[in-house]
Amino acid sequence: MSQNLNKENTPRKGRAWTELTINLRNRSSVPPSFDSVNRMRIVEIIEAKKENFTVKTFTFVDKLCGKADPGQFVMVWIPGVDEIPMSLSAITSEGLSSITVNEVGEASRALNQKKKGDQIGVRGPFGNGFVPTGGNVMIVGGGTGLAPLMPLTEKLVKVADKVTLMGGAKSRDNLLFLDRIDKILSEVDSETVFTTEDGSYGIECLVVDQAEQKLKKEKFDMIFTCGPEQMMYNMFLLAEQYNVPLQASLERIMRCAIGLCGSCQIGKLRVCKDGPVLNSEQLRSVKEEFGKFQLDFTGKKIKL
Ligand SMILES: Cc1cc2nc3c(=O)[nH]c(=O)nc-3n(C[C@H](O)[C@H](O)[C@H](O)COP(=O)(O)OP(=O)(O)OC[C@H]3O[C@@H](n4cnc5c(N)ncnc54)[C@H](O)[C@@H]3O)c2cc1C
Ligand code: FES
Repeated sequence: MSQNLNKENTPRKGRAWTELTINLRNRSSVPPSFDSVNRMRIVEIIEAKKENFTVKTFTFVDKLCGKADPGQFVMVWIPGVDEIPMSLSAITSEGLSSITVNEVGEASRALNQKKKGDQIGVRGPFGNGFVPTGGNVMIVGGGTGLAPLMPLTEKLVKVADKVTLMGGAKSRDNLLFLDRIDKILSEVDSETVFTTEDGSYGIECLVVDQAEQKLKKEKFDMIFTCGPEQMMYNMFLLAEQYNVPLQASLERIMRCAIGLCGSCQIGKLRVCKDGPVLNSEQLRSVKEEFGKFQLDFTGKKIKL
C-alpha cells in the first residue's frame, strides 16, 4: 500500500484520493503492506553483545520490526552465506530491535562473527506471534527459547495479574537474560524459577518438572512456551492434563517465510504463516507430528 500512497504515483487521482492518502499517512494504525514487510532491508548492527560462549545478541534499528508482535520472526540475510529465521528478542516502538543467535551451524556461526558497524539484511516480521492474556500466566522458556519470551514478558506485565516465569537450561552459562528478567518483573506480582540440568544455578532438574509442581498447586489462565520441541511437547501434555490453554512457538526449516514453499509444513499448518506460535487447538490438530517429526532440507519427514 505504501508504494501507492506516494504523491508522485497519484497525480491523476484527484483531491479525494490525495485526502485519503494524507489521512492514511497520519494514521499510525495503518498496517505495513505485505510488499514492504517482505522486502529485504539492510540494517547496521549497532551493538553485538556476547551472552555466553555460543550466543550473541545483535541490536539494530528497523521501523517494521518495531511494529512486530512478540513471537514474530524475521528472516536474516548473512551476505554471501544464507538467510535464516530468527525471533525478535527485543521490540521497541522506536524501531530498536534485536535478535539473539545461538551458533548451531554455518549461517548462525557466520552471523555471530558480525560486529558493531557490520551490515545484515532483514525481511519481516512474519507469522503470528503470542497473544498476551490477562489473569495468572506462566511463561516457560528453554535455552535460546527465552529470546521471543522477553518482549512477550514486557507486554504481559502490563495486562496480567501475576506472571510466573520459569527458565531452564543445561547450565548457568546457558541461562539467558537473568538481569533483564529481574528488571522486567521487579514491579509486578511475579515469581521466577530457574532450573539447570547440572545444578550450576537454580534447581537441578528439567524446567518442565518444576512447571508441573506449580500446576499442581496453582490455577493458571495461560501458559506461553518456547524452547526445544520435546520440552514444549511435554508442556503441551501438562497443559492438556491441567486444562490450561497454551501457546507454543515452533521451529521448522524455513525458506520463503510467507506460506509458499511448504518447507515448514506440520500437518495441515505452515509454521511460518499459521505460526510460529500455535495455540492448544492448533497443536491438537498436528499432534501426530508435534514433538515427533519435521521435514528436513529435502522435504523428507524425519524424526526429531
Ligand atoms: C521461527 C523461528 C525462530 C527462530 N528463532 C531463533 C532465535 O531466536 N535464535 C536462534 O539462535 N535460533 C532461532 N531459530 C533457529 C535458527 O533459525 C536455526 O538454528 C538456524 O537456521 C540454523 O542455521 P545454521 O546454518 O547455523 O545451521 P544448520 O547447519 O543449517 O543446522 C544446524 C541445526 O539447526 C537446524 N536448522 C537449520 N536451519 C533451520 C531452520 N531454518 N529452521 C529451524 N531449524 C533449523 C538443523 O536441523 C540442524 O539441526 C529460529 C527458527 C525459527 C523457524
Ligand atoms: S517457509 Fe515457505 S511455506 Fe513456510
